[in-house]
Amino acid sequence: MIRKIAGSILAASALLAASAGVGEKVLPPPQKSGGMSLTEALSRRCSVRKFQKKELTIQQLADVLWSANGINRANGKRTAPSAMDRRDVMIFAALPDGVWFYDPEKHIKDNKLVKVSDSDVRKYCGKFEAPCYLILVPDRSRQPREVFAAVDTGYVSQNIYLAAQANGLGTCAMGSIVDKGKLIKELKLGKNVPFLVHPVGIPR
Ligand SMILES: Cc1cc2nc3c(=O)[nH]c(=O)nc-3n(C[C@H](O)[C@H](O)[C@H](O)COP(=O)(O)O)c2cc1C
Repeated sequence: MIRKIAGSILAASALLAASAGVGEKVLPPPQKSGGMSLTEALSRRCSVRKFQKKELTIQQLADVLWSANGINRANGKRTAPSAMDRRDVMIFAALPDGVWFYDPEKHIKDNKLVKVSDSDVRKYCGKFEAPCYLILVPDRSRQPREVFAAVDTGYVSQNIYLAAQANGLGTCAMGSIVDKGKLIKELKLGKNVPFLVHPVGIPR
């Protein structure tokens, strides 16, 4: 019986892995219930700059990304507000195996995360060693006004703080980005510029 169950689990995970194309990761649906209360997360929120080497689980990554700026309503609106509903803030996850673009629609519809670079760009993000850096880039073709692009980025940043806290993780908003030029090139951002980066990991 146990062997049968183990067999089904193996088959299911193989199917899941096979359903993710080259350059794609399966991103599980976000966990939307349970966890820490908002007041507890707020009372514990702080900036964390030292992390364990342990990588995030794919569920932790899915939960933080969705909380940051995922779709939370049938009309496609997001967990973070945005001026004039421009939904301009793009999130890239810099992991040891490359850079992954978080497309909120792809998360909800296909459970996928899309690779945009094979390079480990964490060294271009911040000076703190972390298993993951989230890179926040407002798409200026969607929101040309700098003040709104900055405010929209701030809402996403605060969502990351609270989601990290609620998931037993730590993070820090960082405006001092080590090499914006390299990130722009590696992520093919064109005229867009990263506004903030967030190291994310288990606090040390
Ligand atoms: C827009 C913004 C940019 C920041 N940039 C940096 C940074 O480059 N490096 C850093 O170590 N902390 C940075 N921080 C974190 C602040 O230093 C931190 O929030 C502040 O010291 C208060 O500490 P707390 O977050 O633990 O309450 C930034 C915070 C914000 C909101």
